[in-house]
Amino acid sequence: MQEPEPASQSISYPIYMSSTYQYADDLYDQVVAGERREVNIYARCGNPTEYRFEEQMCRLEGAYSCLATASGMAAIAVTLFGLLKTGDHIVADWTTYSTTHEFLLHKLPNFGISTTFVDTSDLEAVERAFKPETKALYFETIANPTMKVANIRALADLAHDRGVVAICDNTFASPAVCRPHVFGADLVVESATKFIGGHNDALGGTITLTPGLLPEGWLEEVRWSTFTKLGGALSPFNAWLLLRGTQTLPVRLEAQARTALEIAQYLQEHSEVEAVWYPGLESHRQHDLALRQFASGGAMLSFKVSDEAVAVRLLKSLQLVAFAASLGGVRSVAQAPATMAFLDLSEAERSQMGVKDGMIRISVGLESPVDLKADLENALTVSAKLET
Ligand SMILES: Cc1ncc(COP(=O)(O)O)c(C=O)c1O
Repeated sequence: MQEPEPASQSISYPIYMSSTYQYADDLYDQVVAGERREVNIYARCGNPTEYRFEEQMCRLEGAYSCLATASGMAAIAVTLFGLLKTGDHIVADWTTYSTTHEFLLHKLPNFGISTTFVDTSDLEAVERAFKPETKALYFETIANPTMKVANIRALADLAHDRGVVAICDNTFASPAVCRPHVFGADLVVESATKFIGGHNDALGGTITLTPGLLPEGWLEEVRWSTFTKLGGALSPFNAWLLLRGTQTLPVRLEAQARTALEIAQYLQEHSEVEAVWYPGLESHRQHDLALRQFASGGAMLSFKVSDEAVAVRLLKSLQLVAFAASLGGVRSVAQAPATMAFLDLSEAERSQMGVKDGMIRISVGLESPVDLKADLENALTVSAKLET
């Protein structure tokens, strides 16, 4: 439930389309006294529509505080630069969004921050990877694109035993499917571009915090020490679009997950499909773990056809499902991760991550399941025929 905007009682919160705010009344004295969150100064530091979106995200994620950013990658960069310094070390899952992996592998070493990549479903491997200088354990709730499910409670406990901060990217689940703070994650990062916005029309990101290992004011400190320096502020208009998206998130995800399960079951039975990865399927190797942590199997699934050429032909034959990057919207979208999102990674890295040639990742939208299955059936038939 959102409160109306106090000045007008508008139930749709306004877009404060202003880059700067007048130093009226006692604002100058307030700012000098250090009260910066409660006042509006300049939109790179924050704006009222963004603050309202942050409040809403706190409710959804069950978090203590939130900082919204211009994109998911901005949220990840602000989190890591806010937390880490030269000499620090990260333990991260092998399978994360490709740009996150590249950031950890290629960019952070320039600042003297190193990462050890492990399969976080192997808890002993995680333990072995910890070093005295490890400051963060990084993983995704549902890994992109293999649909590996993180045992968030076990990972957070392992991290906390060592004083290490547990950071979870919740993009593939969204808070309508999983709330990682409930299972002990200290920081949750999310590409709000995806399920939060839900309509493929706005970029945004969020960082949410549960205090414990990190102090209550940590995110607010990071707003001023890091976020305003990197400059990835969320635009007021995008904050408004994302805020609107949060209002339909639970109903969208409920319907999308129902359809995703139906499609996963259909694909599992298809002769042209070699494998299906969907946490809601009993055949998923972590189905029980998914049931313990998730409200549903979510709206993301991957499947494999014989090779990459067949996968690309299939994608090009789709008519209802969009052959496109990104995910999380009301329109179903499919891509071939090996030669799209993960193209810049080496074959060896892709293999470590479980990203296979012939893999197709689908973000299931709100179309009729019957129409989606008909579209997939046609594309599977066309791509298989061309193969022979
Ligand atoms: C799991 C995950 N995290 C983070 C991001 C980055 O989000 P954005 O594109 O909003 O920067 C993505 C983008 O696809 C993603 O899939």
